[in-house]
Amino acid sequence: MNEKHILGIDIGGTGMKGAIIDIETGELLTARLKIPTPQPPTPQAMSKVFGQLINGIGYKGDIIGCGFPAIVKNGVAQSAANIHKDWIHQDIQKLFSEVSNCQVHALNDADAAGMAEMKLGSGKGVEGTVIMITIGTGLGSALFSKGQLLPNTELGHFKMHGQIAEHYAANSVRKRLELSWEEWGNRFNEYLTHLQFLFSPDLFILGGGVCKKIELYEQYLTLETPIKKATHQNNAGIIGSAIYAAEKSWVKTF
Ligand code: BGC
Repeated sequence: MNEKHILGIDIGGTGMKGAIIDIETGELLTARLKIPTPQPPTPQAMSKVFGQLINGIGYKGDIIGCGFPAIVKNGVAQSAANIHKDWIHQDIQKLFSEVSNCQVHALNDADAAGMAEMKLGSGKGVEGTVIMITIGTGLGSALFSKGQLLPNTELGHFKMHGQIAEHYAANSVRKRLELSWEEWGNRFNEYLTHLQFLFSPDLFILGGGVCKKIELYEQYLTLETPIKKATHQNNAGIIGSAIYAAEKSWVKTF
């Protein structure tokens, strides 16, 4: 197995997906396999699906990167906004390493997506402050200064109108409340405007499935900060996870 071909897994509130990645180019070397996140999303049920992904992809390497939708410190989950509360304080790396017989390196899912975009996508070469927001079941965030990640920022969790921001402006809210693109676009604009005020970023990168449809809501985004969609769209999490695993296991990548 080529040491630069690493399996990246991206775990979200609705789907668990993975592919083998060429960590130098970001290319997907296998078709992306996606399995719905089991309900309820408990550690046991999700570990089982993790194993199914490895088998389904037919991965023969021994290192896996895993983006996980929670605060992740030293491979341990510290929060559980859109997954089962039993995840809190669970050692993600240990659980998934056991089920896959591989060395698993876990990080926050949005941090993973941000890493891919900074190394191989829309943030490449941007020296200032970059904020990536992944728009999905929740709102994930990755904050970079001079290319350096400040992990676990959780910028989807400050309060807006008495509720956490992701309960006001995530894509799941648009779907659940059947908001028009204008209604949702205005909410999302309000969210980004607040981030702009707090961090004065040089660039916003938008990720998650809904970034593909940016032409439906970009007219409602009135920010001064430039906005780009993620080059790797919703594969950014898979790609960044693989890059992270490579860096963690000291494979020289860049
Ligand atoms: C979680 C974050 C995660 C984001 C996107 C939020 O609910 O708190 O950790 O990055 O969803 O999945």
